[in-house]
Amino acid sequence: MKRLSILSLFIFILILTGCKNDQNTDHKNLETTMKDPHSYGNPDEVIIRHLDWTAVVNFEAKTLSATAVLTIENLTGTDSLVLDTRDLAIESITLGKEKEVTPFRIGQADSVFGAPLTITIKPGTNLVTISYQTKPEAAALQWLSPAQTLGKKTPFLFTQSQAILARTWIPLQDGPQVRFTYSAQVSVPPGMLALMSASNPQKKSENGVYQFKMEQPIPSYLMALAVGDIEFKPVGKRCGIYAEPAQLEAAAWEFSDTEKMVEAAEQIYGPYRWDRYDVLVLPPSFPFGGMENPRLTFATPTVIAGDKSLVALIAHELAHSWSGNLVTNAVWDDFWLNEGFTVYFEGRIMEHVYGRDFAEMEQRLGFEDLKATMAELGDTSRDSHLKLDLKGRDPDEGVSDIAYEKGANFLRVCEKAAGREKWDTFVKGYFEKYAFTSMTTEKFITYFEEHFIAGDSVLSSKIRLKEWIYGPGIPDNVVEYNSVRLLAVDHEIKRWNSGTKATELNAKSWATPEWLYFLRGIPHNESLERMEELDKTFHFSTSGNSEILAEWLEHSIQVGYKPAYPAIEKFLTTVGRRKFLKPLYQQLLRTNSGKELAWSIYVKARPGYHSVAVKTIDEMIGWSKN
Ligand code: BES
Ligand code: ZN
Repeated sequence: MKRLSILSLFIFILILTGCKNDQNTDHKNLETTMKDPHSYGNPDEVIIRHLDWTAVVNFEAKTLSATAVLTIENLTGTDSLVLDTRDLAIESITLGKEKEVTPFRIGQADSVFGAPLTITIKPGTNLVTISYQTKPEAAALQWLSPAQTLGKKTPFLFTQSQAILARTWIPLQDGPQVRFTYSAQVSVPPGMLALMSASNPQKKSENGVYQFKMEQPIPSYLMALAVGDIEFKPVGKRCGIYAEPAQLEAAAWEFSDTEKMVEAAEQIYGPYRWDRYDVLVLPPSFPFGGMENPRLTFATPTVIAGDKSLVALIAHELAHSWSGNLVTNAVWDDFWLNEGFTVYFEGRIMEHVYGRDFAEMEQRLGFEDLKATMAELGDTSRDSHLKLDLKGRDPDEGVSDIAYEKGANFLRVCEKAAGREKWDTFVKGYFEKYAFTSMTTEKFITYFEEHFIAGDSVLSSKIRLKEWIYGPGIPDNVVEYNSVRLLAVDHEIKRWNSGTKATELNAKSWATPEWLYFLRGIPHNESLERMEELDKTFHFSTSGNSEILAEWLEHSIQVGYKPAYPAIEKFLTTVGRRKFLKPLYQQLLRTNSGKELAWSIYVKARPGYHSVAVKTIDEMIGWSKN
């Protein structure tokens, strides 16, 4: 009996130490966490493991009244938990199940990074409850009036947390090295649906209360919420579309290949780890093309072209389910690990579903963008390194074609040098090994050297990794695809330039990439007569394809083609997608009369834009608060 109890005590101790070891393995990744220049948080001392969030959405006051219950793990026995906040009104903070009130302090606020919230904790504290309210100006949130929606009857709310805006609606350690699971309960006015980056409802509830669960650990920039008159339509066994009722059918048709894309992605880089993949189509003020919120991509309605020609965006956001959401850039300087891999993977998914021809055209257009961006930055720009240096700057400044297109091209160089099979085996293994962890550029390089180069000096010299990652510009081993279909467009551009009539151009079978390539290729000083001829023949000014329309409008500003001006004003006052706004305002700002027009449009349009677009255009146009 006695021996048995000693034995069981021994086993008990073994189990205990075993558990501890398990946790240590868990922390391995953490032990190497680096200081994040864009977060005040102290995850190296105490780290958030789970968030239980309760919120009431108030459309009149434009606030969320919320409680964040954080499950934390105190790694070092520290007496303070430091969180990121920006514009939050903190009401009270308590510790533990017994809700013992604890002191807290909010540090000095910076307009970009916000303020540290330092909470006094004990070595054994594992629950921290924060009651707070968001401010109407919370930068992640956009509160839309009914007039800014399709249905015109119900207001709408959506969030955009990447890169460091989650802190404007939830107090968290707001850096991509900290991962946590979450559950949530959100109360909205009856008649509205609430959705999150989590398990989602497919129908409105009667009382407007919704429950959510995200069981895979995610970084804070993937926290997302949307509320509105939203309905759901399935398009596959694990895929469906959410949209305002008036757009649901069109959206579901446009994105009906989603399930095929998930299957293609799985064939290329292994199982989809997030259960469902749904897409939410937002109102047109959404500042991005898409945002890879886990389980629920947020998408701009401007990709609904009526012919599925802009669905590469879905391939892109889906690809983030591996590159970004599974293996996450450790800090924003490593952003290329998210976006470069994603653009590369997007191309692979597109090739699989729509064929090599089509994918090559998109890659070629991306490469043209990269060259234009390089020309703007200059050959030696520090911002043209893949590994960025964003310390002290808004990480939003790192969002450029460098991370996306230079990043993707580097990976194409690797693929070409080793052959697709070897490359794919490597990438698949990388996603598998580092799933649900964060990755620095240096850790990636170590893994790459060990598992891909593996001592092959010929392979290494074909790739020139250091030059790509730590050097400026585009190395000369860049991969350029000579799309045959675009060569044919080159021919038509030549014919147009030598006087061939628009009606005689061989453009009948052109898809969107060919039109974009054509519009980018025609002279920047086209005569007004010829602009009119093009417009009359191809109806660009009234195009329902946002990419083609935006390209045409930019061109129209450049040459002063006045018949397109009403369309410019309409576009800029309805669409808030930054990628379109930037070049259009930039073109307008080049001349004095254009400047005047830009200002008169911006005064009207600005209240309808999301804060991230406002910030960019404010800086371009010289808008100041006074
Ligand atoms: N994650 C990005 C959007 C983002 C990046 C938001 C950085 C905030 C900070 C998203 O996946 C993206 O890249 N969107 C592109 C889509 C395009 C490349 C297909 C966009 O919005 O244009
Ligand atoms: Zn992306």
